[in-house]
Amino acid sequence: MIEKDFIPLAYSQEVKEAKIAWKSPSNIALVKYWGKRADQIPANPSISFTLSACATTTTVEFEILKTPLNDFRFDFFFEGIPKEDFKPKINRFFERTMAYLPFLKSYHLKIDSTNSFPHSSGIASSASGMSALALCLVDFERCLNPDITKEHFNKKASFLARLGSGSACRSIEGSLVQWGTHSDTKGSSDLYGIQYKGEVHPIFNKFHDTILLVDKGQKQVSSTVGHGLMHNHPYSEQRFAQAHHNLSSLRTMLASGDLKAFIQLVESEALTLHAMMMTSRPYFVLMKPNTLEIINRIWAFRERSKTHVCFTLDAGANVHVLYPENEKKQVYQFIQDELLTFCENRQHICDRIGFGAEKIARTPHT
Ligand code: PMV
Repeated sequence: MIEKDFIPLAYSQEVKEAKIAWKSPSNIALVKYWGKRADQIPANPSISFTLSACATTTTVEFEILKTPLNDFRFDFFFEGIPKEDFKPKINRFFERTMAYLPFLKSYHLKIDSTNSFPHSSGIASSASGMSALALCLVDFERCLNPDITKEHFNKKASFLARLGSGSACRSIEGSLVQWGTHSDTKGSSDLYGIQYKGEVHPIFNKFHDTILLVDKGQKQVSSTVGHGLMHNHPYSEQRFAQAHHNLSSLRTMLASGDLKAFIQLVESEALTLHAMMMTSRPYFVLMKPNTLEIINRIWAFRERSKTHVCFTLDAGANVHVLYPENEKKQVYQFIQDELLTFCENRQHICDRIGFGAEKIARTPHT
């Protein structure tokens, strides 16, 4: 599919008002997306586990305007309170998506979002937030055009979410989602994420992700700036080629359940992302001393316990600790005994692999 396939030709129904809500999860990349071209096109393909506990629930109330505008109108509330500082990001999202959602000119939107995870926990809410909003918009469009197929619905939601925040396009479905054109994956696209269709060993079915909140402060570098640093980066071409290669290798590991190889690939991806930031101009160190403490403890524990615990990182200091269900007791005990002391106020989130976004309510009044 290409961009213009997401522009609806006409709407068959008239809807005066509606209230639609979706709960959408966050995701954690195994092969990382880092670097983008114009219009949120990724410089390399990526793949992620969809999460479950870290989610945003967004409700959008649509009300038809007496006279259509040439623009869009919306109010934004976070947990019931007007949030002016979130508006520029949402404004940008609507500017980018308006061409694909022509109904926007005819409605006033009231958007209200809540996060399941603590506000300013250092956990980025852009993936869950943008995907929840995109789902509400596509669901409203489905009221205007009930013939839309489930496949098109998911693709369009992912396509729109991408325009809000790249990684958000991997939050529509579960439990593994791939985004970015890749030669080994039929149907893969730079425009939207697709559910991973390769063989997946049962060991990955109930994977855990305990998120350790090492630094709850404001991000030192926004991901937009971070992606930008990959332009003219001395190692960017090698990194993009490596991501393609890692994705191919990961397919084999996911199928065989080879956790040793999986661990090496996932940790290397996380460290490579940080290495890219350390070797860009300007350069940044996104880890904190406690991030490194945690990594070293994980390595030492893995060695002595012979478990298959590993870590991955986002573009920040928090650590995602990944482990399979059958080692849950032992690993969580280790996290409590040795790792929580490196978190701000021992804060952490027990998350696990999830199955994608869920619709909460839909009450169209025609
Ligand atoms: O979606 P963005 O623009 O916030 O970029 C997120 C990039 C990483 O989280 C660091 C990696 C990824 O693939 O999710």
